[in-house]
Amino acid sequence: MAIKYVPYFPETIEGQAILNNFTRTQRFLKYKDNDSVYNSIAKGMPLYEMESIEKVGKNKDNNLVIRGECLSACAYLKENDIKVDLVYIDPPFASGADYAKKVYIRRNPKVDEAIKKAETELNNDDLKAFEEKMYGDVWNKEAYLNWMYENLLAIKSVMSETASIYVHLDWHIGHYVKILMDEIFGEDNFLNEIIWHTQAGTAPLNAFAKKHDVILFYKITENIFNPTRFAVKDESIYPFTDENGRKYRMSGNNNATRYYADEGRKADDVWTWLDTKTNNIGQVFHALPEFADYATQKPEALLERIIKASSNEGMIVADFFGGSGVTATVAHKLNRKFITCDVGINSIQTIRDRLISNKAEFEILEVKDGVSLYRNPQQTMDKLKSLIQGLKNEDGLDKFWEGSIQDSKYGMMPVYIPNLLEGTGRILDTRLVNEIIHKALPDLPDNVKKVIVYYIDIEDKKAIDDFIKEQNDTEIEIEFRDLKQLLSEVVIGDEVDYEIKDNEIEIKHFASDRVQQKIDGYNDKMQAQAIKKNEEYNPLTISNEGLELIEFISLDCTNNEGSWISDSEIKVEKNNYVTINGEKTKTYWDGKIAFTKKPLRMKIRNICGDETIINIK
Ligand SMILES: C[S@@+](CC[C@H](N)C(=O)[O-])C[C@H]1O[C@@H](n2cnc3c(N)ncnc32)[C@H](O)[C@@H]1O
Repeated sequence: MAIKYVPYFPETIEGQAILNNFTRTQRFLKYKDNDSVYNSIAKGMPLYEMESIEKVGKNKDNNLVIRGECLSACAYLKENDIKVDLVYIDPPFASGADYAKKVYIRRNPKVDEAIKKAETELNNDDLKAFEEKMYGDVWNKEAYLNWMYENLLAIKSVMSETASIYVHLDWHIGHYVKILMDEIFGEDNFLNEIIWHTQAGTAPLNAFAKKHDVILFYKITENIFNPTRFAVKDESIYPFTDENGRKYRMSGNNNATRYYADEGRKADDVWTWLDTKTNNIGQVFHALPEFADYATQKPEALLERIIKASSNEGMIVADFFGGSGVTATVAHKLNRKFITCDVGINSIQTIRDRLISNKAEFEILEVKDGVSLYRNPQQTMDKLKSLIQGLKNEDGLDKFWEGSIQDSKYGMMPVYIPNLLEGTGRILDTRLVNEIIHKALPDLPDNVKKVIVYYIDIEDKKAIDDFIKEQNDTEIEIEFRDLKQLLSEVVIGDEVDYEIKDNEIEIKHFASDRVQQKIDGYNDKMQAQAIKKNEEYNPLTISNEGLELIEFISLDCTNNEGSWISDSEIKVEKNNYVTINGEKTKTYWDGKIAFTKKPLRMKIRNICGDETIINIK
């Protein structure tokens, strides 16, 4: 349950069409349902309990990696009076796509020498990989804009007076968000609409290929801006050569000023993938050491340009949709402080490992809002439907209801599940109960006697019960059920057998029900496809030892509870080389992890990202 709600209504800007003390004067952008965001903004940002998950180094700069939603992260920053100096966000684009993480089954270190040799010669393409859903980017426009509006207001409330914000979008929704940004930041604070010309995108037959993203750049008041120059690509427009062999052209008043090609040209608002050195997809990017294999990952060169232009050393750079951790990594490399957050566990792990490899110090905090129930909200949503016993689709019901359960006493009971992908929808409050009582219940068929309403977070149970007693004119009973309980019952930890030797732990056996379920599901899908095509399918199989399901092991030799301190760690990369304490090697994992101090706890992350902690006696 949220501890409290942190107000984040920003100062109004004269002449702008914005929310004014919660009484809307006028909105530029009117769309269906744009009023529903209004109540949640009036309520404030939900501030949840935060748990310190891990501490890396002394972290005197207070760098933060937060697992949770943008809104909760902003509530935490606001409550703790932390202001950020530069924001870059690359939120879901409303692209209509589902993003998946490729899961790589690792090499089994227990195979004998002969097989080991054969495996060394394996090409990367032969890696056994399957995909798993990471986050969905399928929205209806109205829901997206309301969500974005809340997030942007929240972000604005933690930006310093001299801060700038860059919002990375594309043609799907960029034009609508620009109107929101005009409203929130003020048209006068608009600085640039940067076009980032990439190589990604398809070429339709009846139109030009869509190959650019849009980065909207706004300030709060007086922004920091460091002059930026781009390398000259076409020296032919510098026709003169001076006595030192330098190419130049004449321009300015009466053509009296020399502009040298080697000094570069003043940066403009069209950036090409060549300017930013890399494409964000394709072979070039994949070959770079920075490539983290995270869907939608942006190149470091892009962030380098933004961070250098709009911040100075020692300032705080924030990214509330962290993904692969590109912003935090580049901020660290450029001696800035960083704050980043993301809802997905795979993102937080990618960010963590990337920052460790770059020798950054930071703390990982987790927002205890119930959304982190499974690997990410998308997977939790998918999982939920299969977890509710007896839940089946019911064509005759409004889509407000997820389906129904048959009960011998009550007959058909419609079931409501909150949408974890929408921050505000998760909270069972009087607004939602009002909707249930006055809209959803009256529309139900006459034979319905009872409905089941699942919740993640409940605002005030007593107030809700009183509200129902007072307002429910129907005979239909409402039963509330806590979703968190349902999930905690089904998440079975992974199992490990190990042996402790003088200065190392050897893993003998590892089993993960969660990964096995994924693999079985994948095999079933591929098998069905193969049958359709009349082809053979060789199912993915796991050895008896199961060590190929391990991605990462860390030993905490300092704390036996609370925040994790990684005193020794190994990561089996997807190419099977082992990274030891953040240092990449060209050797394979031998199934062991070394230590210098007696380990108190061991954390094992499986290839899908689930973590299990074992206390070592
Ligand atoms: C386009 S990706 C960011 C990619 C990142 N810029 C990079 O270069 O790696 C968007 C990210 O936003 C995260 N996300 C989605 N909804 C979120 C929310 N409400 N709060 C925080 N993160 C969210 C997703 O998990 C995803 O990692």
